[in-house]
Amino acid sequence: MPVIDVHTHIYPPTYVDLLRSRTTVPYVRTFPDVPDSSRLIILPGEDDPSALSTSRGRPIGPEYFDIAQKIAFMDAHKIDVSVISLANPWLDFLPANEAGDTARKINDDVDGLCARYPGRLYAFGTLPLSAPVETVVKEIERLAGLKHIRGVIMGTSGLGNGLDDPALDPIYAALEKHEQLIFLHPHYGLPSSVYGPRANEYGHVLPLALGFPLETTIAVTRMLLSQVWDRFTKLNVLLAHSGGTLPFLAGRIESCINHDGHLKKAGNTEGRRDIWDILKTNIYLDAVIYSNVGLKAAIDASGADRLLFGTDHPFFPPLEEHVGEWHSVSANYSAISSAFKGNEEPAKDVLGNNAIRILKLHP
Ligand code: URA
Ligand code: ZN
Repeated sequence: MPVIDVHTHIYPPTYVDLLRSRTTVPYVRTFPDVPDSSRLIILPGEDDPSALSTSRGRPIGPEYFDIAQKIAFMDAHKIDVSVISLANPWLDFLPANEAGDTARKINDDVDGLCARYPGRLYAFGTLPLSAPVETVVKEIERLAGLKHIRGVIMGTSGLGNGLDDPALDPIYAALEKHEQLIFLHPHYGLPSSVYGPRANEYGHVLPLALGFPLETTIAVTRMLLSQVWDRFTKLNVLLAHSGGTLPFLAGRIESCINHDGHLKKAGNTEGRRDIWDILKTNIYLDAVIYSNVGLKAAIDASGADRLLFGTDHPFFPPLEEHVGEWHSVSANYSAISSAFKGNEEPAKDVLGNNAIRILKLHP
């Protein structure tokens, strides 16, 4: 039975060089007098001067950019195939005139990394979303011809105005036409003010545990409200972190739509497909939720045939040194076995068979 990880990141060496050349977020900073001191500083506000300089961001070692370490991690965790993706913040921050070339270079690099391990690696490509829409569409067309690419990873900002922006329609149309799935992943979180004046005392817990999933939930709900899936009925989106909080909140979202006089008067609900239909037709969910409680909501919302195992490697490494098995990985394995106790077949589907079918893999 194959185990396939659809949520696993890499910063290819070209991207790390780009981050090393920068001094504003996102960037990689090394303290010359401290060995192994490279820090990855990517999240909004993460280089706030009130944080201690060496505690900013997170340590970045070869597990973030060396593909051999990805394979070693896969071997250590019995993962047969990984569908790798550039990690956040992708190319969102690039000037318009650089984005197209950089996307081509990084996508070719990632496709080349996959070619080094036949049958073990596939990838989601990256789009130059700060470039003109025609450049983005061209890259989608080019990606469709790259051997290992099975879709694109995207944040929630779209062209700068979110995923309910009608200017994205040519991009959605191209993705739908070329059957390229969107792997929707958070990065921006929520405004830091919601975390309160003591937020600095709590590390990354509030933005990662709550900001990320709520960002995803809001982005998808905006897509739903702007009727993206009524215009693009075959557009498929894989949601990170089991959909943020979407499975849990879907009923409330649907009820709020049905009780909104403004929306009704504006005619924005006429003939719309409801959230449950979209969850079972256009949305796939990863199984990166670390508990069978959240996983069961994901299974109920989208179905065990639309759920895909993931790890989020290389993020969430063990805090202790020399630990063989990562707790962040075993928690996702345990959630699957506990949610499907006594029912092996759907567990196998989530661990690998769904990915083979949905992403057309040939491990
Ligand atoms: N932190 C990030 O910045 N990205 C991830 O994918 C996971 C944790
Ligand atoms: Zn991730």
